[in-house]
Amino acid sequence: MKKSCGLRGYCLCLINMFMLLLVARSQLTSDFYSSSCPNLSKIVRREVQKALMNEMRMAASLLRLHFHDCFVNGCDGSILLDGGDDAEKSAIPNLNSVRGYEVVDTIKSSVESACSGVVSCADILAIAARDSVLLSGGPSWKVLLGRRDGKVSNGTLANSALPAPFDPLDTIIAKFNDAGLNLTDVVSLSGKHRTSALVIV
Ligand SMILES: *[C@@H]1O[C@H](CO)[C@@H](O)[C@H](O)[C@H]1NC(C)=O
Ligand SMILES: *[C@@H]1O[C@H](CO)[C@@H](O)[C@H](O)[C@H]1NC(C)=O
Ligand SMILES: *[C@@H]1O[C@H](CO)[C@@H](O)[C@H](O)[C@H]1NC(C)=O
Repeated sequence: MKKSCGLRGYCLCLINMFMLLLVARSQLTSDFYSSSCPNLSKIVRREVQKALMNEMRMAASLLRLHFHDCFVNGCDGSILLDGGDDAEKSAIPNLNSVRGYEVVDTIKSSVESACSGVVSCADILAIAARDSVLLSGGPSWKVLLGRRDGKVSNGTLANSALPAPFDPLDTIIAKFNDAGLNLTDVVSLSGKHRTSALVIV
């Protein structure tokens, strides 16, 4: 079976859970995969580039996918999990609007062929979001790596934690603060919904 991010093996999930316990307090690093998957950044960059050549709008979609993942239990790839009555995928902010799952699966397959069972889907989302911004002419940043994939998808939490377009501005700012983000991040990620956010900065 093709390894994808949505349908993860139960064993891998268990291993990830133990790894999560082990590394919960350790720091992410930019060279986390430098020996286990040295070509990782090249592979992700190439696949994102292909996806954008096919459809430029995918850049915004991949950034949004990472953003919507991170607001629910951290950047743990849980937005990619299938199934369950209360999945993040089917939460109101995500259903029929989050897109790019198939691009993430393509990137994951390429990464798996180069280094199998090593790189988390959460890290792939983080790199793909950075590359999407960069390849659209935006700024670049160093992506810290070593995230473990979560195995809980919480649609209820997605409905409450993600900023809604009809939230008042102070609620949006508070939700960003809860995720460790500030006003600059509100403007970058949410400004397109709220012209008022642009006015106050
Ligand atoms: C990395 O990619 C280069 C070619 O781009 C290849 O020659 C090399 O074998 C790859 N390294 C690994 C560890 O896969
Ligand atoms: C989902 O999140 C809510 C709110 O934080 C929490 O009460 C609930 O227990 C969580 N459900 C799961 C399955 O983790
Ligand atoms: C938000 O945080 C970033 C990174 O730490 C910083 O560069 C920026 O100035 C901050 N913005 C505000 C409005 O505090």
